[in-house]
Amino acid sequence: MSQVQAPVVTVDGPGGSGKGTVTQMLARELGWHLLDSGALYRLTALAAIRQGVALDDESALVDVAATLDVSFEPTPPGEPAKVILAGEDVTSEIRTEICGDNASRVAVMQPVRDALLQRQRDFRQAPGLVADGRDMGTVVFPDAPVKIFLTASAEERARRRYNQLKEAGVDVNMSALLEEIRVRDERDMNRSAAPLKPADDAQVIDSTGLSIKEVLDRCMAAVSQA
Ligand code: DC
Repeated sequence: MSQVQAPVVTVDGPGGSGKGTVTQMLARELGWHLLDSGALYRLTALAAIRQGVALDDESALVDVAATLDVSFEPTPPGEPAKVILAGEDVTSEIRTEICGDNASRVAVMQPVRDALLQRQRDFRQAPGLVADGRDMGTVVFPDAPVKIFLTASAEERARRRYNQLKEAGVDVNMSALLEEIRVRDERDMNRSAAPLKPADDAQVIDSTGLSIKEVLDRCMAAVSQA
């Protein structure tokens, strides 16, 4: 008997495009589940370091990815889900710049991506899923009825990240941040395994100069037109 699949809205794009905030709001508004696929790559990198696995040891990294002991615990609306790795709360630890950079390194390896594929697809449950990532619309959920590609200029993304970090009391240098963003974009867009690019049927939204509310309204409009 064929099973009807729960609907999915994919939201792909570079870091700092507003994806994280928008996908959380979208999931809440729709009452759907949320997949933060970037967290899985961050967790793979973090678990590897903790297990003493080198970030260029592909086959060991595949084992780490395939056996990740992770759970996402719901939190009050507006807060990111609590991320538990092997019983430990790593919600803040996986958000550091270094963990993001390490995630981007392990994410270039196709076998690592393959090891995380089914885990991501398992998030597709009724009543629906909002999936945040780089390849949600192109690889993980190619049949998603709504695909959004959210972008913003590198300068705007660096400015947003700068403000976030400053608010969190972290001392940062704007030009170093911009350079890091450019390097990570370059790596994410030019890798051969699932490069960051809009799906052919994605609606591209440039969030430069738009408020979160404006971006959310555009996403909701895309969902209601589907
Ligand atoms: O969205 P994020 O910053 O948490 O993602 C961290 C890194 O993981 C990012 O640099 C690229 C990688 N990533 C990926 O390759 N594919 C995804 N679907 C999500 C993230």
